[in-house]
Amino acid sequence: MKVLVTGGLGFIGSHTVVELQNKGFEVVIIDNLSNSSIEVLDGITKITKKKPHFEKLDLKDRLSVNQFFNKHNDIAGVIHFAASKAVGESVKEPLMYYENNINTLVYVLQQICQLESKNFIFSSSCTVYGQADELPITESAPVKPAESPYGNTKQIGEEIIRDTCKVNEDLNAIALRYFNPIGAHPSSDIGELPIGVPQNLVPYITQTAIGLRDQLSVFGDDYPTPDGTCIRDYIHVVDVAKAHVIALERLIENKGDSNFEVFNLGTGKGSSVLEVIQSFEKVSGQKLNYKIVDRREGDVIAAYADTTHANDVLGWKTESTLDDAMASAWNWEKKIRN
Ligand SMILES: NC(=O)c1ccc[n+]([C@@H]2O[C@H](COP(=O)([O-])OP(=O)(O)OC[C@H]3O[C@@H](n4cnc5c(N)ncnc54)[C@H](O)[C@@H]3O)[C@@H](O)[C@H]2O)c1
Repeated sequence: MKVLVTGGLGFIGSHTVVELQNKGFEVVIIDNLSNSSIEVLDGITKITKKKPHFEKLDLKDRLSVNQFFNKHNDIAGVIHFAASKAVGESVKEPLMYYENNINTLVYVLQQICQLESKNFIFSSSCTVYGQADELPITESAPVKPAESPYGNTKQIGEEIIRDTCKVNEDLNAIALRYFNPIGAHPSSDIGELPIGVPQNLVPYITQTAIGLRDQLSVFGDDYPTPDGTCIRDYIHVVDVAKAHVIALERLIENKGDSNFEVFNLGTGKGSSVLEVIQSFEKVSGQKLNYKIVDRREGDVIAAYADTTHANDVLGWKTESTLDDAMASAWNWEKKIRN
């Protein structure tokens, strides 16, 4: 079966392409390489011994999107990763974020509605919960006003899909709300490739350890958590990728309880920033240079998933630990710097 993966050369997309190909799906990737590199295609090919079909295409170009779907009208499902994802940048460039994250979604959905098989998976985020009132966070927790244009694009994205599903009964969609994907493929042939200064904790840790950055700043140690640092639910990217394959099979087999479903993708366990650093130091055998600085604006205190819905209904659960993920991130960093 042919599956379209938009943003398939990005961090989560590339790992998902590997898992799809391992399961025998024929994958077509669309990416404009705005936040990825063409070499990722070689990494995927090396792992799976199969080169996915790749089209360099900007999904903001509606005409090109239409032409692509005219050529590939036998697509059985679409996994839509393509988006801009830097929270800080989205505050400075809101229109760029609304254009890239909303227009592309609309263009892709318009085309899916013309296909015979209308199966769609959307990359959403735990950011939709903001600082949740209760932990762990279930899917029924209220969606809080977005803290950034980026977060807002995920909320609006979900609403667009929900509204479209209401009037298209044969459209089946799943939104997967990722918590904090980290790590790299165990082969170290693909991983996270942040362009410029990393916005996320784990690539910042590995780049500091390898000598690319002087020091890691830990933003605040006076939060109401056991060690005072913020708590997140760090999940191995390969576990995230595998969830997409299971979700896609659920859509294709028409097993959904409704035609728009939402699942949390997390481990269910929160880890503090200091615990992540300790895990890194354990698996790398290396001390990390870090200092505690003031709190950063916009950080929620703690967020971790209730995974019951994903475990019981989707039939998926995580396989890797935080240490596994940190070890894979470190192996990847060492490999790319060599
Ligand atoms: N990484 C995270 O922590 C995280 C957490 C929650 C949700 N998400 C969401 O998951 C998705 C994937 O995230 P990621 O970490 O793999 O990001 P990424 O930046 O590594 O991958 C996104 C890919 O999409 C491509 N792309 C962007 N705009 C495009 C366009 N207009 N046309 C074609 N290709 C385009 C980029 O070149 C990149 O390869 C995003 O939607 C992101 O918002 C990520």
